[in-house]
Amino acid sequence: MENRHTSMTNVGSVIIMTDHKFIESLKDTNDTDSRKRVYRVPTAEIDFDNYTPVKWGVEYIQLDDEADELEQCMLNGMNYLIEGDKGLGKTQVVHNIAHKHSIPIITLNCSDGTKIGDLIGRPQINEFGSYFQLGVLPTAIEVANKSHNKRAILYLDEFNALQHEIQKATNSVTDGRRSIVANGKTYRLDQGVKLSVIATMNPSTYSGVNTLTEDSRSRFIGAVWEYPDSNSLKEIVDWRGIPTETVIDPMLQLVQNIHNLRINADVDYSLSPRDIAQFADCYRMWTDSTLGKPLVRSLRNTVLSKFSDLAQRELIKKQIQEIFGVPA
Ligand SMILES: Nc1ncnc2c1ncn2[C@@H]1O[C@H](COP(=O)(O)OP(=O)(O)O)[C@@H](O)[C@H]1O
Ligand SMILES: [Mg+2]
Repeated sequence: MENRHTSMTNVGSVIIMTDHKFIESLKDTNDTDSRKRVYRVPTAEIDFDNYTPVKWGVEYIQLDDEADELEQCMLNGMNYLIEGDKGLGKTQVVHNIAHKHSIPIITLNCSDGTKIGDLIGRPQINEFGSYFQLGVLPTAIEVANKSHNKRAILYLDEFNALQHEIQKATNSVTDGRRSIVANGKTYRLDQGVKLSVIATMNPSTYSGVNTLTEDSRSRFIGAVWEYPDSNSLKEIVDWRGIPTETVIDPMLQLVQNIHNLRINADVDYSLSPRDIAQFADCYRMWTDSTLGKPLVRSLRNTVLSKFSDLAQRELIKKQIQEIFGVPA
């Protein structure tokens, strides 16, 4: 094989091998102003099957009419921001609504390390040469335009975890422009097509939570989902086979106490409905097993195991002793 001239280029977080001959061949040779030159490489085709919604485990039980409200917004192509704790069922309910109406869903799990390339796209290379891999923004627009019901959902989980500069890259998709430029091409939502951007964020009342920029926030309507009270937790968790007075009620007390410790920053974890559902499953498992001690074992497995800090774990053990009257 011919020895072609190659070099390393840093694109976002990935170091890729760039084949100069290949890139040169793709340059627009009529453009003499090199500053305006657009380096187009072929764009990889979208695999639409990747965005078919699937149903998640259990049915979401709404505490008020929050899921109905979300559903209307998703159907009407609104941008909707849900601010609420982990484990409240946000991801589950968004996927289940998408599934109910067969609306394709494109997800980005946002983090501090999310790069602009994840949103817009980035050049990649494989054995056949260079190509452009679209990010979630142009992908969501394309998927919406091509979907059978002219809709798509873009789900930005933990949107506030994105660095501010990266948050801004979503603006042209979430405002009236409804478009984004990627690899020299403008991707624009077709007339009558609805793209609903659903974003989630942790409660801003927690210390150490990243913020949303004002211009990102102003492009969303939304709701704050409060931490459920004990009555709601009684409703949404499957408590079958578990004694009320000696286990359920004290457990719900423990959950509220730990949540208050979390608000005061005495501990850095609050039990979510997901953790409480784990506790109930665990309790039933140990009740049926020969290992015994279902209460203490479940508290260790599903409560104490969530606290790695020694001082915080001691605080929780003290709470367990006071509420259940048993050492954990
Ligand atoms: N209101 C609810 N109705 C039914 N299950 C719930 C509810 N809230 C939480 N859960 C349980 O907790 C899990 C929460 O998961 P998830 O959707 O990942 O939460 P989030 O995205 O808010 O962090 C669900 O899979 C379910 O088992
Ligand atoms: Mg989630």
